[in-house]
Amino acid sequence: MLMNAPLIDPFARAITYLRVSVTDRCDFRCVYCMSENMQFLPKKELLTLEELERMCSTFVDLGVKKLRITGGEPLVRRDIMTFFQSMSRHLDSGALDELTLTTNGSQLARFAEPLYAAGVRRVNVSLDTLDEEKFARVTRWGRLTQVLKGIDAAQTAGLKVKINAVALKDFNEDELITVTEWCASRDIALTWIEVMPMGDLGNEDRVGQYWSLKDLRTQLAERYTITELSERTGGPARYVRLEETGQKIGFITPLTHNFCESCNRVRLTCTGELYLCLGQEDMADLRAPLRSNPKDNAPLRQAIHDAISLKPKGHDFDYSRQKADGQVTRHMSHTGG
Ligand code: 5AD
Ligand code: SF4
Repeated sequence: MLMNAPLIDPFARAITYLRVSVTDRCDFRCVYCMSENMQFLPKKELLTLEELERMCSTFVDLGVKKLRITGGEPLVRRDIMTFFQSMSRHLDSGALDELTLTTNGSQLARFAEPLYAAGVRRVNVSLDTLDEEKFARVTRWGRLTQVLKGIDAAQTAGLKVKINAVALKDFNEDELITVTEWCASRDIALTWIEVMPMGDLGNEDRVGQYWSLKDLRTQLAERYTITELSERTGGPARYVRLEETGQKIGFITPLTHNFCESCNRVRLTCTGELYLCLGQEDMADLRAPLRSNPKDNAPLRQAIHDAISLKPKGHDFDYSRQKADGQVTRHMSHTGG
């Protein structure tokens, strides 16, 4: 049956990885992600937790093996733990290989244990600096100690932690070695992300400046012996190993690397829009087929298949079709990073 067929896009890529934003809200206001006074979506626009469960379960039926829950900050969504608990049945059945999340860490002290109990084994925590004052500056509303407590709680609960740090010139450049060693000493994986042209970039003094990962890597090589690793996850990350610490370091360079040929992912927003590519505006509304057919999943399945058949070959931030300056207008908190 076509409708039960796995999701294969026009370029023969199997879509097995779904990233789901469960809220556009966040308790932080990172300068490269949000403006200070964000207008959040009215509640009726959001998928309910039940709708999110139905949506995700349908994707799992269609062959999605990995679910990453994002936001905004996913753990500020009310009752989000019931969603994780409900998804854990797909881990038990073997349909799903991994249920994971990207979080700012602010709520991990509360949720690390229930997340582990729901089958989550790894979390990505966004953390750009280990300096309290700088942390307050980049997140505007965040407190570093709260996040560090969250990371401790996660590790105590048995969750593998990966730090995602956005590389910002004149901001965390001087912390390259500090952050590397801190992660190494705690058995925490570290990935650097090149800042993307989103959010309020450029309006902030000194925070939000582009720092190329090529340069970051050169600085790492001055201190450590770097071994290139061939491993890819189907996403934009590339990895090296630092021989002295044994640690794996990732680099996500959406602006300078072409990783599209191995792309295995799509993104669902908290309003039920399916984005086919992070760098393109192509999307399909899945909320309408979901809401208008509360008892019948067939229209939703068909809409998902139709959307996947429109997945573009690749992105191009430089001479994009969307806007003259190549900026993608939506915020990261909308598509979930
Ligand atoms: N550029 C790069 N990464 C970003 N994130 C948010 N906005 C941007 C941006 N403009 C990242 C966060 C976090 C994830 C949610 O997305 O740092 O790792
Ligand atoms: Fe919140 Fe993450 Fe955006 Fe910061 S980057 S405002 S923590 S969603």
